[in-house]
Amino acid sequence: MSNLIYLVAGARPNFMKIAPLIKEFLKENIKFKIIHTGQHYDYNMSKVFFDKLGIPEPEIHLNVGSASHAIQTAKIMIEFEKVLLNEEPDLVLVVGDVNSTIACALVAKKLFIKVAHVEAGLRSFDFRMPEEINRILTDQLSDYLFTSEKSAENNLKKEGISPEKIFFVGNIMIDNLLMNLERAKNINVLKKFNLEKKNYALITCHRPSNVDHKEDLEQIVEILNFIQEKIKIFFPIHPRTKKNLKKYELNSNIKKANIIINDPVGFLEFLNLMLNSRFILTDSGGIQEEASYLNIPVLTLRENTERPITVEKGTNTIVNKDFKKIKKYVNDILSNNYKNGQTIEKWDGQTAKRITKIIKQRFLTE
Ligand code: UD1
Repeated sequence: MSNLIYLVAGARPNFMKIAPLIKEFLKENIKFKIIHTGQHYDYNMSKVFFDKLGIPEPEIHLNVGSASHAIQTAKIMIEFEKVLLNEEPDLVLVVGDVNSTIACALVAKKLFIKVAHVEAGLRSFDFRMPEEINRILTDQLSDYLFTSEKSAENNLKKEGISPEKIFFVGNIMIDNLLMNLERAKNINVLKKFNLEKKNYALITCHRPSNVDHKEDLEQIVEILNFIQEKIKIFFPIHPRTKKNLKKYELNSNIKKANIIINDPVGFLEFLNLMLNSRFILTDSGGIQEEASYLNIPVLTLRENTERPITVEKGTNTIVNKDFKKIKKYVNDILSNNYKNGQTIEKWDGQTAKRITKIIKQRFLTE
């Protein structure tokens, strides 16, 4: 056995999930290499996270870049197979649900290398989401399935995954949040963007279901225009959304009265912006979790969530693009009539420790 673990990361939300594991692996002297697939490549979608979260430079870059699903997934597979044929780790650890996750899990498994999946078992039951396909297939291939909330375990059992492979370890995103909370509190982002504490809404939006078709994006623009009548908006814009606003010539439809549209920001800045916001409107998965932990109201611009605990115990409400619901909940929030979040089991900053302990006990030779 080489006692070597490969940590795969490719897209923005992956970087936050490997950071706490790296810290723990270093502490426990576990040998690892970081593989960056290159799914995300702009400075503010990738390198800023390595710089600001203290993640070491990846040993291996696959440099695949953007493309259609088939091309991107295939390119990652071709490049990753070359890497694994050159050096065989004992375990390939993948996180989340992006194309890099399924591509690398599939290549490793076919070469008889064990696969661990962090954030296993989450299900939106919505096959129009590419992530749902990535999740189900990655979980079927994985030998170690690390889950973040109780619903995940039930989903996996229903899909026939043997319970011995499933470990309820908690939420790795919350480890990362806690690792950076003090630093994030101490940076002055509000001044930079001319924002006032608790007097703006933070908005993120990049899902294909919201931004890829003109009618959906038009609705998003209407929502932005409605919200900015009530409260100032800060909107760090994802490259997919920026590209499509231009393509459909919708930029001029956005009223410019009370909105700041900015390039994507780094994690510390974003955490500071979340902490100080009055509420968040998003279609991201991780932000539903982070906002719930921080007890900041979050309205989710989707039909469903694969993270139901954020609705049951957290501060999340699913509103999709339903104007009536958005109006109601924004009014509730602004008149201080919105629910409060409760503590969520094992969202405590100890998830990377639990994962590392399991990997050491069950897997690595002493
Ligand atoms: C991907 C993930 C999604 C995740 C999101 C976070 C999949 C299927 N989707 O979606 O689950 O929530 O990342 O951001 O894996 N682009 C740039 N610079 C970059 C990266 C992308 O300009 O650094 C542009 C490209 O034009 C590209 C588009 O953004 O075509 C979309 O990127 P892609 O990685 O295909 O999907 P995301 O929408 O980012």
